[in-house]
Amino acid sequence: MLIELDAPASVRKQLATLFREALIATVPTEPDVVPLIDACVPKNGVKHADYQCNNAMSLFAKIKGKRPEFKSPRSVGEAIMKNLPPSEMVESCSVAGPGFVNIVLSKKWISKSLQKMLTDGIDSWAPRLPIKRVMVDFSSPNIAKEMHVGHLRSTIIGDTLARMLEFCQPECLIRRNHIGDWGTQFGMLIAYLFEKFPNPEDVKESDIGDLQAFYKASKLKFDSDPDFKKKAQLSVVELQSGEDPKYRTAWKQICDISRTEFNKVYQRLGIRLEEMPESFFNPLIPPTLEKLEKLGLIEDNDGARVIFVEGVDIPLIAVKRDGGYNYFSTDLASLWYRLNVEKLDWNIYVTDVGQWQHFDMLFKAFRRAGWLPKDPNEYPICTHIGFGLVCGDDGKRFRSRSSETVRLVDLLDEAKRRCKVALLERDNAKDWTEEEIEKTSEAIGYGAVKYADLKINRTTNYTFNFDQMLNDKGNTAVYLLYAHARICSIIRKSGKDIEELKKTGNLVLEHEDERTLGLHLLQFTEVFVESCSNLLPNVLCEYLYNLSEIFTKKFYSSCQVVGSPEETSRLLLCEATLIVMRHCFYLLGIDPVYKL
Ligand code: ARG
Repeated sequence: MLIELDAPASVRKQLATLFREALIATVPTEPDVVPLIDACVPKNGVKHADYQCNNAMSLFAKIKGKRPEFKSPRSVGEAIMKNLPPSEMVESCSVAGPGFVNIVLSKKWISKSLQKMLTDGIDSWAPRLPIKRVMVDFSSPNIAKEMHVGHLRSTIIGDTLARMLEFCQPECLIRRNHIGDWGTQFGMLIAYLFEKFPNPEDVKESDIGDLQAFYKASKLKFDSDPDFKKKAQLSVVELQSGEDPKYRTAWKQICDISRTEFNKVYQRLGIRLEEMPESFFNPLIPPTLEKLEKLGLIEDNDGARVIFVEGVDIPLIAVKRDGGYNYFSTDLASLWYRLNVEKLDWNIYVTDVGQWQHFDMLFKAFRRAGWLPKDPNEYPICTHIGFGLVCGDDGKRFRSRSSETVRLVDLLDEAKRRCKVALLERDNAKDWTEEEIEKTSEAIGYGAVKYADLKINRTTNYTFNFDQMLNDKGNTAVYLLYAHARICSIIRKSGKDIEELKKTGNLVLEHEDERTLGLHLLQFTEVFVESCSNLLPNVLCEYLYNLSEIFTKKFYSSCQVVGSPEETSRLLLCEATLIVMRHCFYLLGIDPVYKL
């Protein structure tokens, strides 16, 4: 767990509070014992209880000999059960095996809690963070190199993490785009721009619209033409000294074109980001290094200025042998800024796992300097969130047929195109307006790309496969969005005003499958806590998939809604399902679909 959230709405948390009292009453000499409460998992499809308290065994080991009345762990379990304060939450308790206390929740309490959420909204279930200021550094592509499928993962995962943290309502949450707009590649690009357009003011965006091609052409020249190479190197010096404004203008032009391209992707995917590019930190590098020098952290190593950190053989290069700065120099300055100017309590960096060592060394250097607490659990904290490679069906790095990196826009276009084809093939295609088809194929197509990425544990590699992600069966966004649309249509068919029902109707859980669905809905908060405190969106995806399964395969197949005597209550249960589903979609950055 990376962070501990306070979640009063969590069922587990509420049971823990109750059992804490019981534990203290049972063994007053152990006042610090932490209640161990877990949701029960069904065995062979059967569940004996909803939750269990697992303290008896370890507690018995602690008090053995000191309390002769306890002969076995089971007798401790029985005492815990007896000492449980009365509560409307609990229907019944029993002791099983070596001393597990099994808990069955009251149906009345489950329905009452759901009804309360229907009136107060799902925000009333939100947990709180123990800190105020959080940043998620994500996406962060590099200028002039097209945003590729690797940045797609950072963008999708980072956006979801930011949404999850936002739900906890910290005082401040920054979604930071640390764009790579500074570096040696610019010398080459500027020199090439000057060759092609001696008068750079005249350059229009369309002239170098395809920046990737522009980058490739200039790289080709750089590698083959020594004169050009020299010019390129001089251009870097000119750009960094800032004396001749012509270089800055050209640099800015190239950056702006890239930015326009990035923004198109962000807009499509509904991603909000605040840009603070690498160049912003350039003037902050010398003063940061000076502070580190004063602390005696920087030493000479073969002409380079470096910092050694604990447990790593190679040093962190703060200044290159030629006196130039690099990726590390910028991150030293930017982290200093984040801690001292932006005063962030938690800095989260989302990149591929390949950059693990970079961040490990960066954080260790800051700890060595005394700029981060020695205890990594003390605030402020820094966390690197790594993700695996995107692979093709062959298990190798994902590439297009021409073995080039795949452009993100092309991927999104293709996802949308395939969804549109599928929609147009449906029997009811003629009932849809052009706009509905467009909007729905975007929601499903982009949603599918996002969900396929988020549903797997982020640390593993991920295989990009359109057929799989666009399948309307199985654990895919398509399946989930259709499930959502189906529930919407149940409510529509009833002809009832759901807002009115929320005010006047009663939610009652009688049937076993109604109860299963109701309990699963109520467990949203604790699953969210697990997902958010570990920054693992896949936990939330699994919950959402199970929710759809429980609704479809259990509740809806055994409980008639429209026209049944329980219609009102069941419509309210449908509405509660929709609210939780939509909230999951929101957290995952997926637009819901209302019609199918
Ligand atoms: N631009 C980098 C890349 O494309 C990612 C930057 C991550 N953020 C940071 N502060 N280093 O790999």
